[in-house]
Amino acid sequence: MNHRGFLYGASMSAHQVEGNCVNNNWWKYEQSRLPKFRSGIACDHWNRYKEDFALAHQLGHTAHRLSLEWSKIEPIEGKFDARAIQHYREVLLELKKYNIKTFVTLHHFTNPLWFEKRGGWQTYQAPEAFAKYVQYCAGHLGDLVDFWITINEPMVYVVQSYYKAIWPPQKKNVFTMLRVMNHFAHAHLRAYRVLRRITPHIPVGLAYSLVAYVPEYPDSVFDRLQTRIKNWFFNHRFFSLIKNKQDFIGVNYYFTNYSDKKDVVRSDMGWIISPEGLTQVLLGIKKYNKPIYITENGIADAHDVNRAEFITSHLRAIELAQKQGVDVRGYLYWSLLDNFEWAEGFEPRFGLIAIDYKTQTRTIRPSALVYKAIIEQAKRG
Ligand code: GAL
Repeated sequence: MNHRGFLYGASMSAHQVEGNCVNNNWWKYEQSRLPKFRSGIACDHWNRYKEDFALAHQLGHTAHRLSLEWSKIEPIEGKFDARAIQHYREVLLELKKYNIKTFVTLHHFTNPLWFEKRGGWQTYQAPEAFAKYVQYCAGHLGDLVDFWITINEPMVYVVQSYYKAIWPPQKKNVFTMLRVMNHFAHAHLRAYRVLRRITPHIPVGLAYSLVAYVPEYPDSVFDRLQTRIKNWFFNHRFFSLIKNKQDFIGVNYYFTNYSDKKDVVRSDMGWIISPEGLTQVLLGIKKYNKPIYITENGIADAHDVNRAEFITSHLRAIELAQKQGVDVRGYLYWSLLDNFEWAEGFEPRFGLIAIDYKTQTRTIRPSALVYKAIIEQAKRG
């Protein structure tokens, strides 16, 4: 990348790797599904984080994104678990040992059971409950955090949980969906205020999933209009709900909404590989005038045939945006490890490092070394 200090690393979330998140809504939901769709001990990262971070360091990473599991930190409303927060202190200290910058997400899709039982994000008290937990985390971990991310992909959460009804609580109601979106916006604003007060030196942002929208029939006025509306609703509306109260923008980018393209390379999830869409979404958010970090970008690729090219082409796409004045300052690949891919279970393989779930053996994939070489070259300037 064309400036020094650009951060390179990988990203992950608690429920997908730690194991034994027995006290959250996802765990509960998984018990109603086949065993292969249950997170169980996942990558046992709760116990193996030292080994995992040693590998990240070995791969040249200078930044790492993780999430805190709210249900472990506050298993009962108002009662915080000192051992859990101490665990996260040790986790963050381990990253500091390697001089790896820490991006800490406070909410990545999962809710404590007590919160869910009260109505989860549908209730107007949700933002307040979240802010109290955020306050506790800021007070206990603030000295070890470099970047706060309040909420991961609020739009994805509401669409999957309240429109497609795939994720818990599996409801299908557009009005509830819009209400939950508003509550996420309020929760972010409250968390933002708390974090600015307790840890004024740490930048606070969100991680947005941005999809590149392109018209299927560029000649059709109707199709062009529809594409613009989608782009506004899914990519930009949340920015106005939070009145651009964020110190940086976290971008999670995976694909472009091509509807029916032939002869293209697809990931194991069926997603079309489209780095040009990353340049497009980055140019689209330039107007907000904030530093940008790519907080997720990755591919499910069990045989590791497309991952190296995926990473290099997306880094090139970032460079193209930078040349057009977009202030991108870091790239976090999704994910460091293979992990529990929500409703899809363990089959999709996103990791730079492969996991053998029977033995918990970690194996570095060849593409991780290509990424390492890029990082080393950038470090040399
Ligand atoms: C994102 C999500 C991650 C991960 C990734 C790959 O939407 O934040 O948790 O699952 O997608 O699909």
